[in-house]
Amino acid sequence: MSNVINFLTETNYKTITTAQKGVFLGAEVTGVDLSKKLSKEIIEEITDAHANYGVLVFPDQFISSDDLQRFGRYFGELSVHPFSTNTEGNPELIIFDNKEGNPPASTDVWHTDETFRDCPPMGTILYSKVIPSHGGDTNFASMAAIYDGLSDRLQSFLSGLEAIHDLGPFKNLFPDTPEGRKNKYLAQEKYQSATHPIVRVHSVTGKKILFVNPQFTTHIKGMAEDESRSILDMLFKKTLTHEYHYRHKWDKNMLVFWDNQAIQHSAVHDYYPQQRMMERVTIINEHQPIADAPPPDPATLRKYLMPPITQFSNSRQKRHHDK
Ligand SMILES: [Fe+2]
Repeated sequence: MSNVINFLTETNYKTITTAQKGVFLGAEVTGVDLSKKLSKEIIEEITDAHANYGVLVFPDQFISSDDLQRFGRYFGELSVHPFSTNTEGNPELIIFDNKEGNPPASTDVWHTDETFRDCPPMGTILYSKVIPSHGGDTNFASMAAIYDGLSDRLQSFLSGLEAIHDLGPFKNLFPDTPEGRKNKYLAQEKYQSATHPIVRVHSVTGKKILFVNPQFTTHIKGMAEDESRSILDMLFKKTLTHEYHYRHKWDKNMLVFWDNQAIQHSAVHDYYPQQRMMERVTIINEHQPIADAPPPDPATLRKYLMPPITQFSNSRQKRHHDK
């Protein structure tokens, strides 16, 4: 376990009030009306609280979709998700309207949003419009606390390693038809695999964060497949440790803004077929994740003493598919 004492900084803001929700993450924020334009001072305090607590919960916010988008833009430009249910004419706004006949898809796996991008988003905001009578929680995990709780030996082993992230479950959205296969190929060309440090450093708090997730991370760079699989499985299991979670129960008209650098989340799909309707905006991060240490020079790694087989393509018999 991480050291519980002083993991989060105690905050005392002038404009907003924060009440810590979990041991390692989460705070309820009151004293602010998100239907109105916010002052510079409020935005700075929310920015600070967002980095410190990782998950900010704003209850009883009666806001429009425009208000939601304005709030998101205080923290950066909004992104357009390439595979989600974007609103026509307003692609930055995603509406999840899950109900009988439209079950939720692939959000019940622990993940950081969109790590298939070279620059994954800095944060995501969800606003609840319709909630089920029971169920439909969102679970959050502090990957900074999880990193902190790893043994010194494992932390040292992971330092400087990099992992590959791809489109994950979005690859399954394409039907197995000539058209579907072509579109899948084009999507994979457009969103080629991203390489991220396994341990990233938070750009605001400076904390180290375990940055692999079972939804998008495929393998560790420079390791044999069985080694990579075993280590990733072990790291994915670390995210399941209850002590590092804050499980959020939604009320109607609640806005939750989480830090996509340090937090993983998993939506609980137990409410289906009840209706659960959420609006989402996602905030672009213009910078790639900061590594805790530079990766080693591949030329110095023994695994790379064997050159890749593609270098010998001209000296071998033609392969059938090359003809
Ligand atoms: Fe997500």
